[in-house]
Amino acid sequence: MDTSKLFDLTGKTAIVTGGAAGIGKATALMLAKHGANISIGDFNLDAAKETAKEIEGLGVKAIAVECNVLKDEDLVNLVETTVKELGGVQILINNAGGGGGGRENPSKISVDDIKRDYELNVFSGWRLCQLAVPYMKKSGYGSIVFTTSMSSINKSPNMSGYGGSKAAVNHTVANLAHDFGPEVRINAVGPGATRTAALESVLTPEIEKVMLAHTPIKRLGTADDIAGAMLYFASPISEWVSGQTIFVNGGGEQVLE
Ligand SMILES: NC(=O)c1ccc[n+]([C@@H]2O[C@H](COP(=O)([O-])OP(=O)(O)OC[C@H]3O[C@@H](n4cnc5c(N)ncnc54)[C@H](O)[C@@H]3O)[C@@H](O)[C@H]2O)c1
Repeated sequence: MDTSKLFDLTGKTAIVTGGAAGIGKATALMLAKHGANISIGDFNLDAAKETAKEIEGLGVKAIAVECNVLKDEDLVNLVETTVKELGGVQILINNAGGGGGGRENPSKISVDDIKRDYELNVFSGWRLCQLAVPYMKKSGYGSIVFTTSMSSINKSPNMSGYGGSKAAVNHTVANLAHDFGPEVRINAVGPGATRTAALESVLTPEIEKVMLAHTPIKRLGTADDIAGAMLYFASPISEWVSGQTIFVNGGGEQVLE
């Protein structure tokens, strides 16, 4: 068996939402190092441009597209601009997301707050699939990866919107695999606590100690740890894998109790 092509993304184009920072940026760099051209869709255009410049330094093409994934016109523009400037799209990383953080006390938040979690974590990615899959089918290669979360399987107080919406991601992916095959595969990566700006803003040494109590690999995750799983799903090596969620979490749960 010739294994040299199993992680080779040369000639393929990847859209990465939330690709200007954190897990999205690490994923964009990881895919570029394996030959993919990259389209960064992020609402922070300045940071997206910086990341695109860094990626171009690796010898592939990269563009930055201003995109708030909560706006349908931005999602349409992201796909259309990518196809126009980079010639197509074969890989879609639905990574922009968020919410939760233990702030979702049902007696203090509104149904609109919960709707926003679902719009950010589920609906925006679902819509990007709808827009990108026809181009993937046309090119004969397609791999979609959502960023889900350990919160999709953990049960915690004040996390019903974020946790519920990320659980919806896992099951949405499992069902869409049946709609998009055989040309297009779709999977999800669920990070445990990963050192990005989002986590560092709430992390203290005490919180870290509690998080590591049920973590066999005694450290928190890095964005590159997560990007490695993204690369696996994006690449030909996983060509018979679809509808799955893999958790990258040091083997445990970084829960706060
Ligand atoms: N960091 C963790 O511990 C962790 C754990 C589990 C899941 N996740 C998930 O990983 C994903 C990325 O998180 P991160 O920690 O890398 O975050 P981050 O804050 O480090 O980076 C997020 C990036 O997304 C962009 N972004 C945010 N909202 C956007 C929007 N509406 N439209 C377009 N771009 C937007 C930001 O500008 C930024 O570049 C999210 O889906 C998050 O839920 C993170």
